[in-house]
Amino acid sequence: MSDRDATPYYITTAIPYVNGVPHMGHALEYTLTDAIARYQRLRGRDVRFQTGTDENSLKNVQAAEKEGIPTADLVERNSQRFLDLRAPLGLSFDDFIRTSAEPRHAEGARRLWEACALHDDFYRRSYEGLYCIGCEQFYAPDELVDGRCPTHFTVPETVAEENWFFRLSAYQDALEALIESDTLRIAPPSRKNEVLSFIRRGLEDFSVSRSEARAKGWGIRVPGDPGQVMYVWYDALSNYITALDYAGDGPAYRRWWAECPDRVHIVGKDIIRFHCIYWPAMLLSAGVPLPTEIFVHGFITLSGGKMSKSTGNVLDPLDLVGTYGLDSLRYYLLRHIRSTEDGDFTMERFVAAHNADLADQLGNLLRRTTSMINRYYGGRVPATVDGALDDESAPLVEAAAVLGDRVAAAMADYLNHDALEAIWTVLAEANRFLVVAEPWQLAKRRDDPAIEAKLATSLYVAAEALRLVAYALQPFLPTTADAVARQLGLPDARGGLTWVEGTAWGRLAPGTAVAEGGVLFPKLELPVSDDGETSAS
Ligand code: MSP
Repeated sequence: MSDRDATPYYITTAIPYVNGVPHMGHALEYTLTDAIARYQRLRGRDVRFQTGTDENSLKNVQAAEKEGIPTADLVERNSQRFLDLRAPLGLSFDDFIRTSAEPRHAEGARRLWEACALHDDFYRRSYEGLYCIGCEQFYAPDELVDGRCPTHFTVPETVAEENWFFRLSAYQDALEALIESDTLRIAPPSRKNEVLSFIRRGLEDFSVSRSEARAKGWGIRVPGDPGQVMYVWYDALSNYITALDYAGDGPAYRRWWAECPDRVHIVGKDIIRFHCIYWPAMLLSAGVPLPTEIFVHGFITLSGGKMSKSTGNVLDPLDLVGTYGLDSLRYYLLRHIRSTEDGDFTMERFVAAHNADLADQLGNLLRRTTSMINRYYGGRVPATVDGALDDESAPLVEAAAVLGDRVAAAMADYLNHDALEAIWTVLAEANRFLVVAEPWQLAKRRDDPAIEAKLATSLYVAAEALRLVAYALQPFLPTTADAVARQLGLPDARGGLTWVEGTAWGRLAPGTAVAEGGVLFPKLELPVSDDGETSAS
C-alpha cells in the first residue's frame, strides 16, 4: 500500500437485530471494525464505514406483541439504542441504515430481487421445515441438538407453506472457485476452509420468502407477489449495497461498491454461511460485484458463558464505559480478545489489563518522562547527543523501527491484537530502557558533560518512543493517542504526518514544551459486591 493512497475503502459491520438491547458482542464487532476503519483512514484511504439495524425480522413482531406496542415503534426505539453507541464507544461510522424505515433500503432490496428473478433464479415450491425464529433460519433435523436449536436451545417450529426458493445449488462451483482463489477472500484461513468444506458437501436451494400471514404483515413485499414477504436474511444482506443507493445506481454505489477495490464485511462466526455463501450467490445471480473480503471474528463470552440477548447473559458496554472509561474497554476488546478467536470477559482480566498495560506501562511511563523533562530541562524536550546511550537504547530503537511494518502486517489480516502487541513491545522496551539508563541517577552527576549527554539522550529517547506509540495508537485508542501527544506538547497524535512519516524514529523536535504530567489512567480496583467479595464477572 502506498502512503498516500486515497482510493475508496468500504467496510461494514453486520446489522444487529433490534429485539433486544446492544451487548458486549456488538461492542466487540463495532470496536474491531472501527479500529480497521480508522487505520485505513490513517493510511490515507477514503473510507466509508457503515452499520445499521436489521428490523424486518419476525422476532421484532413478537417482541412488540409482548410489549403491546406497534412493531414500528419498537424497532425505532431499539434501533436508536444502537445508534446511540456511536459517541460512548468512540465509533466513527459514516452511515447507519435502518432496514424497515428507509426507502433506499426497500427499493434496493426490490431491485436486487428483480435482478435475481430476471436471471431465473427463483421458483415456487411447497416446503415443510424446522424454523428457529431466534436465528431466522431453517434447520435440517441433523443440525439440531436433542431436537433443539444449537444456538438458542429452543425447539424450532414446523413451518409448512409454499415459498419462493433461490437456486443456490447452481452457484456451488462458482462460489468454490471464487473462495478458493481468494477472489473473495475469507479470513482467517480456518474460516475459509470451513466455508469451502461446507460448499463441497453440496449446496441446497433455500427459501427466500415467507407467507404474508406468517410474517404478520411485517417486512418487504416480494415484487409481483404481494402474498409473500422477503426472507429477512435476503433483505438484510442487501443493506450493504442498498445503503449506497444501489436502487438508483447512484454515485455512492459506484464509488464504494461497483468501482471500489476493497469491499469488506466484518461479521461474527455464527453468520458465516449467510455472508460467505448466500450473499455472494445472490450477487452473482444479480450480476453485482461481490465483496472482496469477509473477516470472521470470534465470540466474546461473559465469564465463560455465551452472551446473547436470547439467553439473557448480557453486560451493558455503556455501564463499563461510564464507570471505567472508553479506552479501557476498547483496549480490552482489541488486545485481550484475539480477533480471530473466542475470548472471555471477566472483571478480573479487565482490571488487570487496565492496571498493568494502560496505567503502568503507558500512563506511568508518560508521567515519569514528562516530569523528568520538566524537572531537569525546564519542560523542554532535550536534544539527543550522538553516541550517548547507543547500546542501551538499541533494543528500543529497533522495536520502534519495525513498529509501522508490524502494525501494517497485522492489520492486513485484521489482527488488531497483534498490532497492539507490537505497540506494547515498544512500550516494554521503553520502560526497560529507563530502568537501564536511570536518568534520575544521571541527573545527580550532570556536571560531567558525558553524563549530561546521557541524561539528555535518555529523556529524548523516552519521549520520542511515546510520540511514536501515540501515533500508532490512533486507530485503536484515539482519545488516549491524542492525550499522550498533548502531554508531549504536540497538538494531536497525527501531527499531519503520513503513516510512514509518523512511525519513523526521530520526529519529535527538541525544544518542544511538554505539559505538566497528569495521570492518564488512574489505577482501578475490582468492584466489591454487597457480601464483600470482589466481583469476577
Ligand atoms: N441481524 C443479523 C445480522 C444481519 S447482517 C446482514 C444478526 N444480528 S445479531 O444481533 O444477532 O448479531 C450482530 C453481530 O453481532 C453478528 O456479527 C454477530 O456475530 C455479532 N455477535 C453477536 N453476539 C456476539 C458475541 N457474543 N460476541 C461477538 N460477536 C457476536 O446476526
